[in-house]
Amino acid sequence: MNLKKTVLIASSMAILSAMATTASADGASLYQAKTCWACHGKDAQTPILPIYPKLAGQNKEYALAQMKDIKSGVRSNGQAAAMQGVMGLVNEAEMAEIAEWLSSLK
Ligand code: HEC
Repeated sequence: MNLKKTVLIASSMAILSAMATTASADGASLYQAKTCWACHGKDAQTPILPIYPKLAGQNKEYALAQMKDIKSGVRSNGQAAAMQGVMGLVNEAEMAEIAEWLSSLK
């Protein structure tokens, strides 16, 4: 194997591993950009009111399902209306990214 080929393989591996880590990085930055932290806390576990949920460590499937239900209005119990207005800012792919990141938190 020549050197040029080796360098090429090494750099594509670096790109691949960077892509693998952006999944959670994107979730974290979306959580900031879409103002989720304003209610749920910057670390996703210190909500501004005790009646608001902690999200850190939640199962991603559950978190995504709740976001979709709150967005569509299927879930309208409790304080869900407080969050519904913000859900116009996120599409399903973004919700999935955020859910993935939330599930990675301890
Ligand atoms: C204005 C305040 C507010 C904002 C902003 C907000 N939420 Fe919420 N969120 C809530 C409240 C309140 C609930 C709980 C509703 C209830 O009482 O049933 C909730 C519930 C949730 C749940 C379900 C938790 C569970 O255990 O069932 C998830 C997941 C969630 N929010 C994620 C997000 C994400 C992601 C964003 C940003 C796109 C966001 N929220 C923005 C107030 C907010």
